[in-house]
Amino acid sequence: MYEITVIPGDGIGNEVMEAAINILDALDIDFNFTYAKAGDDCLEETGVALPDETLELVKASDACLFGAAGESAADVIVKLRQSLKLFANLRPVKSYPGTKALFDNLDIMIVRENTEGLYKADTEEETEEGAIAKRIITREAEERIIRYAYEYAKSNGKTKVAGIHKANVLKKSDGLFKKILYEVGEEYKNQGIETDDFYVDATSMYLITRGSEFEVIVTTNLFGDILSDEGAGLVGGLGLIPSANIGENNGLFEPVHGSAPDIAGKGIANPIAMILSAKMMLDYLGEKKEADRLENAILKVLSEGKDVTPDLDGNSSTMEMSEAIKKAL
Ligand code: NAI
Ligand code: MG
Repeated sequence: MYEITVIPGDGIGNEVMEAAINILDALDIDFNFTYAKAGDDCLEETGVALPDETLELVKASDACLFGAAGESAADVIVKLRQSLKLFANLRPVKSYPGTKALFDNLDIMIVRENTEGLYKADTEEETEEGAIAKRIITREAEERIIRYAYEYAKSNGKTKVAGIHKANVLKKSDGLFKKILYEVGEEYKNQGIETDDFYVDATSMYLITRGSEFEVIVTTNLFGDILSDEGAGLVGGLGLIPSANIGENNGLFEPVHGSAPDIAGKGIANPIAMILSAKMMLDYLGEKKEADRLENAILKVLSEGKDVTPDLDGNSSTMEMSEAIKKAL
């Protein structure tokens, strides 16, 4: 029995969460779902966007499913990532049939460092001339994320890890990143995993010109943020893109999209990003068989293109699409 904290949040977060739980209930796994509050509605009701009870629940559970927050997103999701030390951000770039993917053969996992780099807000400062942002690269955090990428490759049958950096200009910080990449890569060489590295600017082009050659990408915080959004554009939009935030003790799984106030309440949000996030949770929990079964059911519904939401040119509702996936299981 897995203890799962469920935070639907705001807007379509509620709708896509209902669709995902509907499907998890149909799997051959026992879950105990505990619902918790966070987000704009919670802020209005209780005065805080992320109550301590919610944080404690997530800490104590086996995993957390998060829908979306609205305007308070930074106070909710960024705080959750930091409090739980969720150092690895996994963003798959995978083309599915029946979507507006620009290429039909992309299958990349972007492993992004989630705790340092250019995104440590407390290291940014105003100066007389303007402002300075420091880019923090520590051996500890970068080795941890690089190792995570190789372990991911190993346990998912991948044969290549590409480190993305700008070491020709950022000689010290990205020089260190590249050095650690090859040190760790050496340990995985005889386990059938090749190491390669590319400059980030060139990579933003390669994703478009030869994206299908990448398997696992590992990179620092800002570069990962940018490349993964480029990846989202390549495979057809926000309603389809899941993500995982993983730390030593906790995992939090969420669609990349927000609360979508423009379509909230209409029951037409695409539930795939949330359902694929639940699939990533199954992988994290070690439930590979059920994760694969779920992904195949999603593939079936997407390729038939019959029971899909308006963003995929269909006319099904969120729950009708969920029911179709459940049936395909
Ligand atoms: P958004 O992701 O909510 O929406 C952007 C556009 O994509 C909208 O036109 C929306 O209708 C569409 N869209 C998003 N998800 C969809 C889905 N599942 N199916 C069909 N269409 C979908 O981003 P936006 O509009 O920039 O932000 C809206 C609110 O969400 C803001 O309050 C923002 O702070 C919050 N937000 C929260 C995030 C989180 O909780 N992790 C992430 C991004 C934004
Ligand atoms: Mg981003």
